[in-house]
Amino acid sequence: MRNNQRRMQAIVESIRDLSPTIREFTLALPEAPLPYRPGSHLSVIVQINGRPEPRFYSLVGSPMGDTYRIAVKLAPDSRGGSRYMWSLQVGGRLDISEPNNHFELDFNAPEYLLIAGGIGITPIFGMAQALSRRNAPVQMLYGSRTAEEHVYRSELEASLGQRIDFIADDAGQKMDLQDAISGLGPNAQVYVCGPIPLLDAVRRTWMESGRPPANLRFETFGNSGQYAAEKFWVKVPRHDLEFEVPVGVTLLDALNQAGVETLYDCKRGECGLCVINVVSVDGTVDHRDVFFSAAQKTQNKRICACVSRVVGGGVVLDSDYRPDAI
Ligand code: FES
Repeated sequence: MRNNQRRMQAIVESIRDLSPTIREFTLALPEAPLPYRPGSHLSVIVQINGRPEPRFYSLVGSPMGDTYRIAVKLAPDSRGGSRYMWSLQVGGRLDISEPNNHFELDFNAPEYLLIAGGIGITPIFGMAQALSRRNAPVQMLYGSRTAEEHVYRSELEASLGQRIDFIADDAGQKMDLQDAISGLGPNAQVYVCGPIPLLDAVRRTWMESGRPPANLRFETFGNSGQYAAEKFWVKVPRHDLEFEVPVGVTLLDALNQAGVETLYDCKRGECGLCVINVVSVDGTVDHRDVFFSAAQKTQNKRICACVSRVVGGGVVLDSDYRPDAI
């Protein structure tokens, strides 16, 4: 597991429900907070079945005094990280890292389109505020299942005015990616954070438009698939093993618990270190990573064990995969 960063004990200073499923935590720090740029995140240690595990949450907005802010969506079928976060009370302690950034905002682009889906608003919110402060040409699309899930709405409207569209699934609204992307100048940059289906749709539209791949920048959250999580079976003939992966447990954790030692790093479907060979599938692989291309996902020859799952059956795996053979 990665993380050589300095860690500290933060104290939960306040808790605010932004919507029925999104809760914001303001964290007071034992020392002056390090400044951070839009797109930064914290690694936070949560307790899952008594075991410490890292989770990554984007820092929300700009630094405020001696505190950091994060927001967490309660995901009932998650591995338990969001449930742990939602169990925290004001005054509780939280082991956090210093800010880190894998989703850097380039301030030199001539034009920007920001796209947020659901809780993907957390890094995009700070980008919108920072670009608006610089009077940069920026448009934004913000999709969510319901209108009440559009958190930070008044702050976003104050920053972007008419330049933001709020799209709610339950109102029958759809994000018009084609229209938004085709209206951009040739060197515009797009920043997107949201579930995998949204990211796939943006990537497809972007590639079809013939624009430079480097101008599309994204971050996702690795528990968002095409299908609802369900239990599935796993066979590993090389180890003579057969076991089940329940909802709320990742394939990676199930493999390691079964004694099939599997490497990992990001646990977000990004680095490819946990990739394992697929021998056969009964059902459908729900690829939840951003590591493989769309074509590789169709072939179903390998699976990112940290985030991807199977629906409608199970999978036979060969544990002999070596990441340096990618
Ligand atoms: S640990 Fe990085 S993709 Fe799975």
